Amino acid sequence: MERGAELLFYVNGRKVIEKNVDPETMLLPYLRKKLRLTGTKYGCGGGGCGACTVMISRYNPITKKIRHYPANACLTPICSLYGAAVTTVEGIGSTKTRIHPVQERIAKCHGTQCGFCTPGMVMSMYTLLRNHPEPTLSQLNDALGGNLCRCTGYRPIIDACKTFCKTSGCCQSKENGVCCLDQGINGLPEFEEGNETSLKLFSEEEFLPLDPTQELIFPPELMTMAEKKTQKTRIFGSDQMTWISPVTLKELLEAKAKYPQAPVVMGNTSVGPDMKFKGIFYPVIISPDRIEELSVVNYTDNGLTVGAAVSLAEMKDILANVTRKLPEEKTQMYHALLKHLGTLAGPQIRNMASLGGHIVSRHPDSDLNPLLAVGNCTLNLLSKEGKRQIPLNEQFLRKCPSADLKPEEILISVNIPYSRKWEFVSAFRQAQRQQNALAIVNSGMRVCFGKGDGIVRELSIAYGGVGPTTILAKNSCQKLIGRPWNEEMLDAACRLILDEVSLPGSAPGGKVEFKRTLIVSFLFKFYLEVSQILKEMDPVHYPSLASKYESALEDLRSRHYWSTLKYQNADLKQLSQDPIGHPIMHLSGIKHATGEAVYCDDMPVVDRELFLTFVTSSRARAKIVSIDLSEALSLPGVVDILTGEHLPGITTTFGFLTDTEQLLSTDEVSCVGQLICAVIADSEVQAKRAAQRVKIVYRDLEPLILTIEEAIQNKSFFKPERKLEYGNVDEAFKMVDQILEGEIHMGGQEHFYMETQSMLVVPKGEDQEIDVYVSTQFPKYIQDITASVLNVSANKVMCHVKRVGGAFGGKVTKTGILAAITAFAANKHGRPVRCILERGEDILITGGRHPYLGKYKAGFMNDGRILALDMEHYNNAGAFLDESLFVIEMGLLKLENAYKFPNLRCRGWACRTNLPSNTALRGFGFPQAGLITEACITEVAAKCGLPPEKVRTINMFKEIDQTPYKQEINAKNLIQCWKECMATSSYTLRKAAVEKFNSENYWKKKGLAMVPLKFPVGVGSVAAGQAAALVHIYLDGSVLVTHGGIEMGQGVHTKMIQVVSRELKMPLSSIHLRGTSTETVPNTNPSGGSVVADLNGLAVKDACQTLLKRLEPIISKNPRGTWKDWAQAAFNESISLSATGYFRGYESNINWETGEGHPFEYFVYGAACSEVEIDCLTGAHKNIRTDIVMDVGYSINPALDIGQIEGAFIQGMGLYTIEELNYSPQGVLYTRGPNQYKIPAICDIPMELHISLLPPSENSNTLYSSKGLGESGIFLGCSVFFAIHDAISAARQERGLPGPLRLNSPLTPEKIRMACEDKFTKMIPRDEPGSYVPWSIPI
Ligand SMILES: Cc1cc2nc3c(=O)[nH]c(=O)nc-3n(C[C@H](O)[C@H](O)[C@H](O)COP(=O)(O)OP(=O)(O)OC[C@H]3O[C@@H](n4cnc5c(N)ncnc54)[C@H](O)[C@@H]3O)c2cc1C
Ligand code: FES
Ligand code: FES
Repeated sequence: MERGAELLFYVNGRKVIEKNVDPETMLLPYLRKKLRLTGTKYGCGGGGCGACTVMISRYNPITKKIRHYPANACLTPICSLYGAAVTTVEGIGSTKTRIHPVQERIAKCHGTQCGFCTPGMVMSMYTLLRNHPEPTLSQLNDALGGNLCRCTGYRPIIDACKTFCKTSGCCQSKENGVCCLDQGINGLPEFEEGNETSLKLFSEEEFLPLDPTQELIFPPELMTMAEKKTQKTRIFGSDQMTWISPVTLKELLEAKAKYPQAPVVMGNTSVGPDMKFKGIFYPVIISPDRIEELSVVNYTDNGLTVGAAVSLAEMKDILANVTRKLPEEKTQMYHALLKHLGTLAGPQIRNMASLGGHIVSRHPDSDLNPLLAVGNCTLNLLSKEGKRQIPLNEQFLRKCPSADLKPEEILISVNIPYSRKWEFVSAFRQAQRQQNALAIVNSGMRVCFGKGDGIVRELSIAYGGVGPTTILAKNSCQKLIGRPWNEEMLDAACRLILDEVSLPGSAPGGKVEFKRTLIVSFLFKFYLEVSQILKEMDPVHYPSLASKYESALEDLRSRHYWSTLKYQNADLKQLSQDPIGHPIMHLSGIKHATGEAVYCDDMPVVDRELFLTFVTSSRARAKIVSIDLSEALSLPGVVDILTGEHLPGITTTFGFLTDTEQLLSTDEVSCVGQLICAVIADSEVQAKRAAQRVKIVYRDLEPLILTIEEAIQNKSFFKPERKLEYGNVDEAFKMVDQILEGEIHMGGQEHFYMETQSMLVVPKGEDQEIDVYVSTQFPKYIQDITASVLNVSANKVMCHVKRVGGAFGGKVTKTGILAAITAFAANKHGRPVRCILERGEDILITGGRHPYLGKYKAGFMNDGRILALDMEHYNNAGAFLDESLFVIEMGLLKLENAYKFPNLRCRGWACRTNLPSNTALRGFGFPQAGLITEACITEVAAKCGLPPEKVRTINMFKEIDQTPYKQEINAKNLIQCWKECMATSSYTLRKAAVEKFNSENYWKKKGLAMVPLKFPVGVGSVAAGQAAALVHIYLDGSVLVTHGGIEMGQGVHTKMIQVVSRELKMPLSSIHLRGTSTETVPNTNPSGGSVVADLNGLAVKDACQTLLKRLEPIISKNPRGTWKDWAQAAFNESISLSATGYFRGYESNINWETGEGHPFEYFVYGAACSEVEIDCLTGAHKNIRTDIVMDVGYSINPALDIGQIEGAFIQGMGLYTIEELNYSPQGVLYTRGPNQYKIPAICDIPMELHISLLPPSENSNTLYSSKGLGESGIFLGCSVFFAIHDAISAARQERGLPGPLRLNSPLTPEKIRMACEDKFTKMIPRDEPGSYVPWSIPI
């Protein structure tokens, strides 16, 4: 064995040699901190988001082939990289040399907004192209399956990638021999293309061609090294950990004999997360490097033998190959494995994870183990003592010592037998999201009839996700042997298995009744699948399935995505160089794609920099009895630990309300995640290590209030209560035909901005000056709060924001608190301090969208007219006020959405609970309030026996009208959007098609729904709408513009440059924008509320006009001159070339006493129609198609505006369908990362998406008649909610279930399945409420 080995690998074509490598180091921090390659981003640290994707290439000396694969740098130990070549986003292209076509196209197709996910996307795509220069659409969708984007909604990213595919325009589905291009949308009429409209936001002609010969070659040195036969085990070590990399089987066995407790790390996708998130530590790690025997693939007479080191991605290819070659009856198991390998994790994890690691780690929700266990697979083991074989059976899965590997044994390979004639295997799984999500329940099922008599000879059924290990229903299967395959057998099987695979009500993971139902639903699917095959094999003896039951068989199928966009071309009368109205690419688009765009944590380490991390409360309501810092303080590198005793409390003012919040708690905690201490150390690792050693003793306090209902019971509200009343509600109730009362609960939402909270505070060393570099939406607030905590005047504190990697409302107030503490630490020690939250900390500490409870009482006529509406809104504010009352207010002011309710009353309360305090999130109360109203309308429609869209139309505003707060509106464009959406979506035809489908399919249902949108835009007061800008013209004729808005992905800086370009009639290339700073533009308002470009644009325009006015005499003297000439002339004449611009804010007021006012400047109108298909047996749903029509006034930049609409729509769709926060009954948040909390991924977006913008309309007060679009699209996501509602309703009607159908949000697979009641949901055991402690509670 070679000790103290040098680690050698390549990064972007350069050799890296590490002499003293720490085996605990992952590639991501190594790239970012050591090599200063900051293009690769941190998004979660656990393999779940794809932000850290790099390409790893390895040469195999036996096959002489190079394998390129995508990998998550966050889970790749650098020690595992010996002999590998790593390519990062910087390695494939840069603005300084040449950009790569992938980088160019993702940027030019507008596939970047905040840009934080972009390097990961680029690298996933790049790796695909290295392996398949002309990929198919399936390969493309697959390649991006492990990358999350929170901004774009994926459509433009797919469009960019599609340009590399052979047939980019087509859906490639070729269903019935025709594809989308042949048949129009769903076979129904398509958009009319007019001359004045555009359908593309980019031009493919200008793209660089992909030239594979230009790519980095695999380093020849690494090939030579790999060919060398004389390699020895390498050992890398630090004080804490030893990493042993044996290169021969013999050395591996020796190492394992010497260190039997050491894990054998292959992909590190199981060991890595355990070490990071569960605090498991291994002093020794054994990581075999390219040992031939572990990579075998042998075809024997009985089956396939696959080496333990074969990756899951390679396994997928191997099985695909085998299933192509061998007859189907032999490959039943391989087909089933392939099905799961298609959805298991994302491509990065599948390429890293090994088959052996998957089997041996025995995760309870493993997808493959249930299948391998039912398939009589065996494991080939080896140790120094010799070979042996053990079955992969239940005992092995339960880790029974007699059936397990011995500590010194290695798994060499796995035998997977061929299936036999009359043997059938199926795989099932249901997850919160269709792809890249661990299964809630999965299953492997195998039956063997021996011969064609249909009598069960062997039966084997295993489930994952229903217990601490994979569970086999052995006894039940045994009892069913000898029975004929018929409905009686199925019925008996369901009962036996429910009895055997029993789940207690308090089972970890919750969703207990859903899981029980899936257990039998999967069984039913298996029964039908096998019955159908039997029928195909022997039509005489086996009866046909009733055709409507056949719908249970197939999984919801994805076709390929396609989209159309319709927007108005820029005004033909415009000057040719005027960029307003053109789809200009995001200013930073290319830099996002090359990784050159600098985010806060990409800033280089400052001399003597410290790192700060927090210790937070683990109790929801408790007295702090003691805090013991001694052990933490004694650790090396620890500089200080701040507690509440050091820091003053702060008083925050939110409009008319003030709240005092302690920055760090000393006496009492009111929620889990509340900040208690700030640990400051020389490095992140040391700070985190010390934070774990802070000992806090609590004494729990009562009552613990977590849910809205508990808050109502305890009258725990933030004051004041708000009320809005219009007309005479009580009188109206006396006049109506019918009255209904109902309620809907809506869960919260995590912002899930890709860049976590980040800040770097640098004391300047003189005059108490301090610079705060921070990812925030509100620099002025950071400045104020920091100045107050440091007790200095604001002019000493400067806050700088280059760009923000997504914010969505979550980087306003919360960031202020974190930055103030960080600044305090920096000031105290006179050293720079960096604080970057990990994903889990971020989700825990910062809160999110408010959960809501809406109660409604509606009085209506039989024709659907709603004459009286009485509502109550409650939000779960959490422990502190934050902006919760504003959210209630905005909810009240926006609740009527597009409807005229002649008599309306709504009261709203912000509930104080013991949860982390919730805050602003895109839409700010409207997505909740709007859903409550739409739910009420849907119920009214059901009561009246009318289609919901009819009741919506009847109650919609007509032309000129008045809102409940008596502001005038003109609803012409609302009606136009509604009608156009009806037309473009072919609503009536498709409704009939959906009904026909539903009548023919019992287990699958489709649903169609359309919702209108009237989104009021305004910030509530004139002062909150003021904005300022600063424009300098330099003597070379170039311009620098600054304004108060923050670039967080929405493209505000791009729009501002367009404004300058129009006003000063100068090319975009002459204008520059460096970022936002309190130094250049003081007293800024927060960036949010859809108005950032509106308000700052007017200020920028003002500054430009001031300059033009000043320069007018000079320009008119030399009208053909250039800006350089004019600037020089102005300078010579002592005319200032710098101007500030100002906009005082829109008129805005609301009097809560009278309930009247003019709180909003204008309304964004729109409509969305969505179609879904659900699987009634599993709760899965597929978004088939969405049509959106929006009135955006005059779009300044259609690419950015469409980007906002669709990005928000997908975020809204996530909110209303799959994004679910889970809290324990003690108030602990479980869902702290992408592996537990599912935001939409590429598999979730509608297969067809059609967006069109209304023709421009005049909007006299706004910037060039444009409208702000940041938030409104979120609400349109509820069209998917109501489409699912429609589908469930169809299922229930067919099953004869009476109404009303009340469904809470999000409409997760669990809720869908449980609402589609049937014999299986009736069959499952139910627990008496109160008889058990549930795993999670709805808050
Ligand atoms: C983001 C993410 C998403 C995921 N999604 C899914 C999913 O959807 N479905 C699913 O089923 N799984 C999923 N997983 C789990 C994944 O399948 C497993 O983590 C993976 O298969 C483990 O393989 P590995 O090579 O990385 O194991 P490692 O982490 O390297 O090792 C795991 C264990 O196996 C042992 N081991 C490995 N090889 C051998 C050997 N040859 N002999 C003896 N012991 C050995 C090690 O000692 C260790 O204890 C996901 C994981 C992540 C991180
Ligand atoms: S940071 Fe690596 S996958 Fe999220
Ligand atoms: S652009 Fe994808 S996360 Fe922001």
